[in-house]
Amino acid sequence: MTDQGTWHEAAALGALNEGEPHGIEIAGHHIALYRVGNEYYATSNICTHAEALLSDGILDGCEIECPLHMGRFDIRTGEALTSPVEIDIRTYPVRVAGDRLEVCLSA
Ligand code: FES
Repeated sequence: MTDQGTWHEAAALGALNEGEPHGIEIAGHHIALYRVGNEYYATSNICTHAEALLSDGILDGCEIECPLHMGRFDIRTGEALTSPVEIDIRTYPVRVAGDRLEVCLSA
């Protein structure tokens, strides 16, 4: 998986604040970055229900609540947790490289 992917610089760690999802676009992928304590996560930024931007939602622990209809996903696994979302979101591997966060994109 990550062996077949490519790592891309995603953000400066200093730009990622606890509890504040951060939306970016890399190579056509709309990605939301999250910081929970000293852990970092990345998911698709597009809600699987009606395509709202999850980076506009509310991060509650490791759950992101969609701003449009309040469906929730687990940002660690992408699992759809609460109605009306039923389809999981994609997650991306992340790693810290110096003072930057990198995201792995696969084909
Ligand atoms: Fe996200 Fe409806 S668009 S819950």
